[in-house]
Amino acid sequence: MKKAVYPGSFDPITKGHLDIISRAYAIVDHLTVAILENPRKHSAFTIEERLEMIRRCTKDYPKVEVDYFSGLLIDYVKRKGISVIIKGLRAISDFEFEFQMALVNRKLNPDVETLFMMTNSKYSYLSSSIVKEVADFGGDFRKLVPKEVYQLIANKFPQNE
Ligand code: PNS
Repeated sequence: MKKAVYPGSFDPITKGHLDIISRAYAIVDHLTVAILENPRKHSAFTIEERLEMIRRCTKDYPKVEVDYFSGLLIDYVKRKGISVIIKGLRAISDFEFEFQMALVNRKLNPDVETLFMMTNSKYSYLSSSIVKEVADFGGDFRKLVPKEVYQLIANKFPQNE
């Protein structure tokens, strides 16, 4: 059984993330969406809020588990018995860093494969940072995030309520 992980910050989850989740879901037997708990990085949403948002968006996917981790991804996948890392690529600009991470992860554990999926072109401009920026300045970000999480995000940015 092929178990895969889709790791990220998901601060917050966007329609681009959900696109990768739904397409990865179609080709693996079990998918863990894993949030990195990174004390070095300021996050707008707590781990609990991000877990809740992803759970809401994946409630119709029984083979999806939502989890979080700290430290190295490659150590997390070993603990979980996962053999595939799924990454989304929006543009060439994503490639260089992702390529480097894939090679480091392969060096650390050659048994784990990184699989890159191209983001649907209609979401290639989209990122969590863009969502936060638009929301922070009172812009309409409804089209950028799954409808299940719109209100939770809006609550964080009072200018949108
Ligand atoms: O959504 P993001 O912030 O682009 O996700 C990046 C993430 C969490 C996938 C990446 O930073 C990661 O895997 N971090 C864990 C630490 C690690 O294993 N780094 C790679 C080896 S240096």
